[in-house]
Amino acid sequence: MQKLIVANWKMNPISAKEAFSLAKKIDAGIPKKKNIEVVIAPPFPYLECIKYQVSSIKLGAQDVFWEDKGAYTGEVSPTMLKNLGAEYVIVGHSERRRLLNETDEMVNKKVQASMKAGLKVILCVGEPKRATRDMRQGIKEAKSFVKRQLQRDLKGISKSHVANPMSLIVAYEPIWAISAGGAGKPDKPEDAAEMIRFIKQFLTTHYSLLATPVLYGGSVNSSNVRNFLQYEEVDGALVGSASLKHQEFKKIIAAVSSVAYY
Ligand code: 13P
Repeated sequence: MQKLIVANWKMNPISAKEAFSLAKKIDAGIPKKKNIEVVIAPPFPYLECIKYQVSSIKLGAQDVFWEDKGAYTGEVSPTMLKNLGAEYVIVGHSERRRLLNETDEMVNKKVQASMKAGLKVILCVGEPKRATRDMRQGIKEAKSFVKRQLQRDLKGISKSHVANPMSLIVAYEPIWAISAGGAGKPDKPEDAAEMIRFIKQFLTTHYSLLATPVLYGGSVNSSNVRNFLQYEEVDGALVGSASLKHQEFKKIIAAVSSVAYY
């Protein structure tokens, strides 16, 4: 399976000019090997124009609303995103859950509406903190937290909704490992791999989803990405701040491409 690298630019950069220039530089550095897919999720206003600046990068949005059109001030619908050229959409990012009180119920509606519109959903899950003294206990608690999130966020979703394995992607992003707002220290690769194995097992057992890609996110950079991706079960990375520096992001892409098969 291809490895997936998703750049979540969050609310950056400040101008369209910088966004286009960053996207173009990243696009130019994507290796011709087809063993990776690189997705950029810029802020909404830059989506359409970036589409015309790039040839190898796929586009994603950072959020979506669950209705298709109507009186929903400020919202953007799944079909609008599709029409703008987005193939992917990030749903349920912890920053939206925390800062905007996005609930699992809202996340679930977004997942359903996006899938219906044919967008590839990147569903973010992850526990707020991990016990530091007793790691085994911390991982046990993290598993039950993530399990609860998946049960609520994927309510009503069954194998029949998942048109192809890429229709649903899960990003495991422990909140405490995110560079902004968290402690800024990445998870241990072996613990992240254990969590990802657990997520895959859960999706297989409860949703018959045998091939859902699961990414790791949280303080990924060019020095540590290989440590995560060396685990076969880690299908890629969701990258925040390091995706805003084009040299650094290019190194991440090169590192992932070097560990990906075929
Ligand atoms: P950082 O890579 O900056 O820790 O951000 C992770 C993230 O939130 C990506 O969605």
